[in-house]
Amino acid sequence: MVSNGKYNAAKLALKLVKDGMVLGIGSGTTVEIFLNLLGERIREEGLVVYGIPTSYQSYYAAIRNGVKIIDLVEHEPELCIDGADQVDAKMNCIKGGGGAMTREKIVAKASKKVVIIVDESKLVERLSMPVPVEVLPFAYGYVERKLKEMGAEVKLRHGSGKIGPVVTDNGNFVVDCDFGVLEDEDIGMIEENINSISGVVENGLFPKLIVDEIMVGKS
Ligand code: A5P
Repeated sequence: MVSNGKYNAAKLALKLVKDGMVLGIGSGTTVEIFLNLLGERIREEGLVVYGIPTSYQSYYAAIRNGVKIIDLVEHEPELCIDGADQVDAKMNCIKGGGGAMTREKIVAKASKKVVIIVDESKLVERLSMPVPVEVLPFAYGYVERKLKEMGAEVKLRHGSGKIGPVVTDNGNFVVDCDFGVLEDEDIGMIEENINSISGVVENGLFPKLIVDEIMVGKS
């Protein structure tokens, strides 16, 4: 079941898409709703839309809906549309519930404008959920010790449909790091400190500077 809030946020973001646009395409269920709605516009209005997806999930959803797939070598997205797992009152976000945060952050940073689409359930005063961190498997033990030294409770992510750790679209592990409640003024520093550990590929903290607009869909 898809929440109406997600649908309404996706529908609002759809208005930003223009013919010939290059889109950065995030991942997750809200983005998938956005792509399905975009597909209707592509079929009905004959729009041509180019897209740089951030996961296999959004890659196939984009193709199914008639988006022309391109890459970052020759193109810079005008607009990036993505979901989030938590959004605080200052527009900092946590992403990576689906393990796609590395490509999501690269594409967001490469885009001229970043719009995050969420339903109301994602809104919090301060971020508090565990921060997903993508880790090179070879470095896992070392990275885990360093993250614990930073004060995090660390859990290697396991999924369903396969025994053992979740492996990302980039072939890496994900560790979920609980730092407790995150204050706005600390978020940039925590993001940088996590990424400064050798073996960390990227993490799911999206400080407010990366985000231009949050679209919240109400049910
Ligand atoms: C993927 O790794 C995530 O960053 C998603 O963007 C985030 O989990 C939001 O997903 P939903 O739209 O499915 O809630």
